[in-house]
Amino acid sequence: MSSLACDEEGEENLGDCEVIPPGDWVEHVARYVTLNSRHAKGYPSFKWKTCFLKPFQKNISLAQKEVAFYKKIWSTAYPTPSFFPKFFGICSRDQTGCRFIKLQDIEAPFLNPCSIDIKLGTRTYDEEASIEKISREKLKFPYQESVGYRIIGMKVYDKKSGQYRLFDKSYGLSFNDKNIPHALLNFIFDGEFFRFDVLEKIIEKLLAIEKWFSEKSPYRFYGHSVLIVYESDGCCNSDSVNMDQYVRPLPREHSCVDVKLIDFAHWYESEGGSIKRDESSIKGIKSLLRSFQWVESLVKSRAYTENT
Ligand SMILES: Nc1ncnc2c1ncn2[C@@H]1O[C@H](COP(=O)(O)OP(=O)(O)OP(=O)(O)O)[C@@H](O)[C@H]1O
Ligand SMILES: [Mg+2]
Repeated sequence: MSSLACDEEGEENLGDCEVIPPGDWVEHVARYVTLNSRHAKGYPSFKWKTCFLKPFQKNISLAQKEVAFYKKIWSTAYPTPSFFPKFFGICSRDQTGCRFIKLQDIEAPFLNPCSIDIKLGTRTYDEEASIEKISREKLKFPYQESVGYRIIGMKVYDKKSGQYRLFDKSYGLSFNDKNIPHALLNFIFDGEFFRFDVLEKIIEKLLAIEKWFSEKSPYRFYGHSVLIVYESDGCCNSDSVNMDQYVRPLPREHSCVDVKLIDFAHWYESEGGSIKRDESSIKGIKSLLRSFQWVESLVKSRAYTENT
């Protein structure tokens, strides 16, 4: 494997860079890759063992910001909430090659992961954004402010066809502030059934994130995402709806659902004792929770009518 082309621009002061020989690097295709993604522009991410290697941004100060955030949360004296991916430093394939942020691969514990990337917040431009940047961001999804989130992409395993169904950015953008919860229905539909079992766990984990944002977080994020992953090849053994006859339980060591926050190129921290709450993320996560709760009640009521 040859070294990768790099387009890093700007100052660099990011500390040690670990060189990992290219042997075990596996190119990661997010399956719902879109035209604007770095992958499509020739800067792919990679998987290496149980790590996710995220390529540096062209604008190196953004990579720097993201690295600084991960260093900060993983070096604090307080326990870091489990909804942040673990951070293992910076790496590259050789001395001169492109650099990557080495993170915990959130999908690693799953056999056949289904995942959705949801950009969170009523605004996706940061506190120093120029007027041009603000209008560019606002144009991307006119309902961002009222909805508080948008779907960037998702992949869902279809048991009937044995293939992934892929939904890119255009899928998320085809919904509006009235019907966007419907977009989530496809995320939990496996071709035959709606996955009630994962819904309960997704909601539980989103509630924990919402509580942290509302009560504890000293940070404000912009342009970050919630990455939700669940296992397509089994169930979560939920007692809420008896689906046992339809689904195969997972071996205990495999994960069932994980929900993490990712993508931290734009963050701020409250200074001087008083915390400025991240209202953009709080509204976004509350809205996302309401949408999943709506999906849950809809799916449960359908199951009820189908079973009686
Ligand atoms: N820690 C992780 N583990 C597994 N997958 C991840 C992880 N972080 C990111 N990803 C995957 O990579 C995608 C892009 O990651 P991220 O949002 O951090 O970068 P980005 O700056 O938006 O990149 P791009 O410009 O390529 O969209 C996510 O949608 C997700 O599929
Ligand atoms: Mg992103």
